[in-house]
Amino acid sequence: MKILGLSKDQIIVAVRGGQVRIAIFGMGKMGFPLAVAFAQAGAQVLGFDPNTALVEAINRSENPHPLEGGLDGLVGPLVKQGKLRATTIPEGADVYITLVPTVLDANRQPALGILEEVMGTIASLLEPGDLVIEESTLPPGTCAQRLWPILLRGALKEGQIGFVHAPERTMSGRALEDITGAYPKIVGGINLESAEAAASLYSVINSKGVIPVSSITAAEAVKVFEGIYRDVNIALANELALLSSNYGLDVTEVIRAANTQPYSHIHSPGAGVGGHCIPVYPYFVSQQPEAELIRLARRRNEEMPIRLVSMALLELQRRGVEWSEAKVLLMGIAFRPGVKEDRYSPFFPARDALLPLGVGVYAWDPLYSDEEIAALGVTPVHSLAGMDAAIVITDHEQFKELDWFSAAALMRNPVLVDGRFILSPALRDQNLTVLRLDGW
Ligand SMILES: NC(=O)c1ccc[n+]([C@@H]2O[C@H](COP(=O)([O-])OP(=O)(O)OC[C@H]3O[C@@H](n4cnc5c(N)ncnc54)[C@H](O)[C@@H]3O)[C@@H](O)[C@H]2O)c1
Repeated sequence: MKILGLSKDQIIVAVRGGQVRIAIFGMGKMGFPLAVAFAQAGAQVLGFDPNTALVEAINRSENPHPLEGGLDGLVGPLVKQGKLRATTIPEGADVYITLVPTVLDANRQPALGILEEVMGTIASLLEPGDLVIEESTLPPGTCAQRLWPILLRGALKEGQIGFVHAPERTMSGRALEDITGAYPKIVGGINLESAEAAASLYSVINSKGVIPVSSITAAEAVKVFEGIYRDVNIALANELALLSSNYGLDVTEVIRAANTQPYSHIHSPGAGVGGHCIPVYPYFVSQQPEAELIRLARRRNEEMPIRLVSMALLELQRRGVEWSEAKVLLMGIAFRPGVKEDRYSPFFPARDALLPLGVGVYAWDPLYSDEEIAALGVTPVHSLAGMDAAIVITDHEQFKELDWFSAAALMRNPVLVDGRFILSPALRDQNLTVLRLDGW
């Protein structure tokens, strides 16, 4: 059933009654949990993805993203009831939702080719009354200026179809929980009718409700601004860590105390920012002349892994260890603790700074197999034995719980560079060298 023009109550009843067909383009870590959420609410959901293995796994009732919590037990019954199906061949529906990669190209420009191709496909399937919802994060202005004209290239005209941006606001590893009730859904339409239809649709799956904003561009900006806020805040925390060394301060103590004041929300300093959100979104606006602070913050965050590597190398030099003879361990490949996601992880710039110097680069990440680690051009290990330096990139629980004194006793040179503030400075009393960004 087409939902454009229906009342909120009619839309809710139609979705719950299984009368609304929703096609979701992109069955990735975000698209698949969204498909499950809508199917669970009653909609007939069709997931489209060119990845055949992914599609076949879904149709076999498997959760293709086992690290996304809460999905395992839901997929089987939804597939069996015919509520959820996946395909590599796009089909017509009543609502089309896109959740495909919007990353950066080699020049750090937004790469929108996939999304534009998907919009072209959708344009060829559209019927009067259909609603298209774009959820992938976009530079403000993209929907109105680049995507809407593509949708109108099909047989239909403005007024016959709806178009909305409703940015995905989830985090990898907890997508289903976030989609269904962690934060309200933001919705901005190309016109009021589109926004109202989408708001009613999302009210079925999101217990935190929907916040309509006044335009499709405002909705794009909400998600991008959220990400930029976090990037700039982390850059500030990193800068505060660096300048704390001038005062002999433990930056974590100062930030913890400062944040007891309700207007202070200083984030955590550390090895750098990863994932395909926070390090990417600043580049969506960084060409704008006014974005000075945003560009500076990005530079500050991008230099953090290099700073950690420099700290390790300078200490090795001080100890008379030739870099070409040194073994340096990078502890953590994932950008976030406990989540096997390494896009834009600080691991990569750290690795890339070390390898050209002839340093032996080793990596340990409990979430990655030896084969996966070797494929990244470094040697997999499961301890600190024989290393000259270890750099903590990720604060995985396993690393936090490590008996660092015993672990470091196996090193050739006990140089520990703590990029996540997880080591006790008291380890220095045991003749270990512990280096931190704040020098504490
Ligand atoms: N992962 C996150 O934490 C997160 C959070 C908020 C927003 N987002 C947004 O969501 C988008 C998707 O993120 P994700 O984590 O699901 O990415 P993902 O890489 O896990 O999934 C993307 C999926 O799109 C599929 N795809 C590629 N080309 C396609 C095409 N032409 N048609 C249909 N599907 C196609 C891929 O095969 C893949 O399965 C991101 O680009 C970002 O804008 C992601």
